[in-house]
Amino acid sequence: MTPALETLMLAFSADDGLAVPERALFIGAEPHPDLKKWSSVTGWQPLKPRADAWEKAGFARIETPDGKWPLVLMLPGKSRDETLAWFALAKDRLENGGTIVVAMPNTAGAARFEKELSKATGSVTSIQKHKCRAFFATDDGTWSDEIFADWRALGGRREIENTAFTVEAGIFSADHIDPGSQLLADHFPAHLRGDVADLGAGWGFLSDAILKRSTKIERLDLFEADARALDCARNNLAHHETEIGFHWHDVTTGLPQAYDAIIMNPPFHTGQATDVDLGRAFLRVASASLKRGGKLLLVANRQLPYEAALEATGLAWRKIAEDRVYKLIFAERR
Ligand SMILES: C[S@@+](CC[C@H](N)C(=O)[O-])C[C@H]1O[C@@H](n2cnc3c(N)ncnc32)[C@H](O)[C@@H]1O
Repeated sequence: MTPALETLMLAFSADDGLAVPERALFIGAEPHPDLKKWSSVTGWQPLKPRADAWEKAGFARIETPDGKWPLVLMLPGKSRDETLAWFALAKDRLENGGTIVVAMPNTAGAARFEKELSKATGSVTSIQKHKCRAFFATDDGTWSDEIFADWRALGGRREIENTAFTVEAGIFSADHIDPGSQLLADHFPAHLRGDVADLGAGWGFLSDAILKRSTKIERLDLFEADARALDCARNNLAHHETEIGFHWHDVTTGLPQAYDAIIMNPPFHTGQATDVDLGRAFLRVASASLKRGGKLLLVANRQLPYEAALEATGLAWRKIAEDRVYKLIFAERR
C-alpha cells in the first residue's frame, strides 16, 4: 500500500473527517482494507497491474469514468498535465455538492497541486502525513468553470510535434519520441518475419518503426499495461495493413504464445520509484516467449544492470551499440 493511499484514507478517519457516502468513484484506484467497509466504491484504473489488484481485492471497476458521484477519490500519477486533467475529470463526475479528495506524495508536487486545486475551488482542506498530502474540497457552486475547462483540455489527444503520432497526458513519453527507442529503431533489421511482439509498447513508436522496416512481419502483438497508451497505439498504427493485436496486459504475468521476434524498451519505474526488477521480469518473460531461433531486440539505459539477467535466460546475446545514455542488446534463442 502506498503512503499516498494511506494519507488519502486519513480524510475519512479523523473525528472531524469526511462522512462516507453511499457511493464513491475512485480515479487511479488502489485497494485499501478500510474501503471494504464502505457500501460502494467503484474504481477506474488505466494501469493493468493495479486494475488487477483492485479487482482481486473484490472491488468494482469501470472501463471509463462516467456517471455522477457524491464523492470522487483520486490518486494521480506524476505528470502535471495528467493531474490537472484528472482534477477536471473528477469535477465532471461530481454530483452537485459533491467532494473531491486527492492524495499525492510531496515529491510529486503535492503542495503545488493543492494550490492549483484551491485556485479553482476557492479553498481546500489539507492533511499532511507520510511525506504526502491529502486535500479535499466540496463543490458549493462557486468553483471556476474556466479553470476546469483549461484543465479538461489537457486530457485530450495531442500530436507529438513534427510527427503524426497522437498521445495523451500521463502515458510514457507523452511529448516526444524517447531517444532510447529512436536509437533502437535506427538499428532495426529489415529481415524480421513471422510473429513479432512489442513488450511495453506504449503509444506504438517501436511497433510503427519495425513495421516500416521489416515488411515480412505477418503479425505484430502489442502488450501494454497502460490502457490509454494502448488506445493511442491503436490510432497510431491504424494505417498499417499487417495484422496487429492490441493487448491490455501485464507483461510480468507472461505471454499467451511464443514469438519469432520480440522488441522492447522495458520499463524501469513503478509509480515514482526506480524498479530494475520490472525490467528483469520483462527479460525473463521475453526469453521464455521466444521460439527456437527467435530474436530479442532491446534498448535500455546504460547503467541498468541487465547483463546478469540476460546470462540467466540462456540466450546468446551481444551489445550491438551504445551511446552516452543507452545500450542496444540483441539476443537469440539458439
Ligand atoms: C520505456 S516505456 C517504452 C514505451 C514504448 N515502447 C516506446 O518505445 O515509446 C515502457 C512501457 O512499458 C509499460 N509497462 C510498464 N509496466 C508494464 C507491465 N507490467 N506490463 C506491460 N507494460 C508495462 C509502460 O506503460 C510504458 O509504456
